[in-house]
Amino acid sequence: MVMDAKKINQIAPLLRIILKQDGRYPLVRYAETCPSCTLSVEMNPDRPEEAASQIRKALGRVGSGGLETVCVQGVGCFQILPWPRPSEGRVAGKIVLVTGAAQGFGLEIAQDCAAQGALVVMMDINEEGVRRAAEELRSQYGPETALPLKVDVTHEDSVMEAIHQTVRHFGGFDVLISNAGVLKADSVKRQPVKDFDFVTAVNYKGYFLCVKAASPVLAAQHKADPSYRSDIIQINSKSGLRGSNRNFAYAGSKFGGIGLTQSFAMELVEDGIKVNSVCPGNFFDGPLWSDPNNGLFVQYLRAGKVRGAKTVEDVRKAYEAMIPMGRGCTAADVMKAIYYLIEQEYETGQALPVTGGQVMLH
Ligand SMILES: NC(=O)c1ccc[n+]([C@@H]2O[C@H](COP(=O)([O-])OP(=O)(O)OC[C@H]3O[C@@H](n4cnc5c(N)ncnc54)[C@H](O)[C@@H]3O)[C@@H](O)[C@H]2O)c1
Repeated sequence: MVMDAKKINQIAPLLRIILKQDGRYPLVRYAETCPSCTLSVEMNPDRPEEAASQIRKALGRVGSGGLETVCVQGVGCFQILPWPRPSEGRVAGKIVLVTGAAQGFGLEIAQDCAAQGALVVMMDINEEGVRRAAEELRSQYGPETALPLKVDVTHEDSVMEAIHQTVRHFGGFDVLISNAGVLKADSVKRQPVKDFDFVTAVNYKGYFLCVKAASPVLAAQHKADPSYRSDIIQINSKSGLRGSNRNFAYAGSKFGGIGLTQSFAMELVEDGIKVNSVCPGNFFDGPLWSDPNNGLFVQYLRAGKVRGAKTVEDVRKAYEAMIPMGRGCTAADVMKAIYYLIEQEYETGQALPVTGGQVMLH
C-alpha cells in the first residue's frame, strides 16, 4: 500500500468516530481537491498515534457543528457528510462490509442489512454481479446505500485496496462479514492438489487476509473512542463443526476458520472487536445447491450419490430428511444469528450453529 493510503486509513476512521453527532457517525470522504477548508488540523506525520488528540484539540477551537471539510496536514482533505439513511433498523447507523456479495448468502445478507438501515459495501470477484446488485439497492434505498467493489479475497493487494477504497469513500466501517466461500467435493484418493489449494485459498486464507486488512481500521475507531465496538463475523458452515464425507477440503478449511475465529477473538478483544462465526446448514434454495446446470442437486443426481433418486426433487428430499427440522437453512435464519452476534455485547470467539438441529454442540 502506498504511504498516502496508509495515512488515509489511519486518519479517516478517527475522524468518523470523533465527529459523532446526535448518536450517529458521519460519512468521511477523502476529497481529491479541497475548495474551502472549515477545519485545519496540524499533525506530525511521524507520530500518527497523536492524531486523535490533535483532531480533538482543533475541534475544541471551532466545535464540530456544521463542519463540512477537515484538512489534515500531510494527509489531505476529508468531506464530512451527514449519515444518509433513516435511524430505524437493527443495523441502522452501521456500515457493513460483505464479501462474496454478488449472489447466495452474501447477496441476501447485504440486502437485509440495507433493509435494516445499514450502508453496505458489497465485495466480490464477480464485478458485474456486485455492481448490478448494488445498483438495485441504491435505487431502492438511496444513492449512498451500497458501494460495490471488485475483490479477490485470495490476494492480499486486492483485499488491502478494497478496504482502502471503503475508507476513502465512507471513512471506515463497523462490521466485516467474511462470507466468500467455495466448495470442490471429491474423494481424498483423487482430488487434484490444485482443487484443494483453491478451496483453502478462498475459505481459509481469504478469511485471514480480510481480517488482516480490516482489523487496523476497526482498531483505529476503537482508539478514537474506547466505548466503540465493532464486529467481524465469518460465515462458516456446519462442515466446520463436523467432518464432511468426500468434501474434506471444504470441511478442513471451515474447521480451520473456527481456529482463526477463536484466535482473532483473543487478540482483537483489546481493540473492541468481537469475532464470531455463524455455521449454517445447507442452503438448498441458494445457487450452490439449486443452480439448474451445475448446482449440487444436479451434480449429486448425476453422480448417483443418493441411491434410487431419479430427479433433483428426490435428491432434495433425501437431504431434507437428514435435518431434524425437515428443511434447509435460509438467509433469514442466518440473519437472525448475525443480528444476535452484533447485538450481544458479551460474546466473542464463538461458532454459532444454524442447522435445524443437524449439528449439535457438545
Ligand atoms: N450454500 C450452502 O449450503 C452453505 C451452507 C453453509 C455455509 N455456506 C457458506 O456460506 C458462504 C456463501 O455460500 P453461498 O452458498 O452463498 O455461495 P455462492 O457460491 O452462492 O456465492 C459465493 C460468492 O463468493 C464469491 N467469491 C468466490 N470466490 C471469491 C474470491 N476469491 N473473492 C471474492 N469473492 C469470491 C462468488 O463470486 C460468489 O458471489 C460460503 O462461505 C459457504 O461456505 C454455504
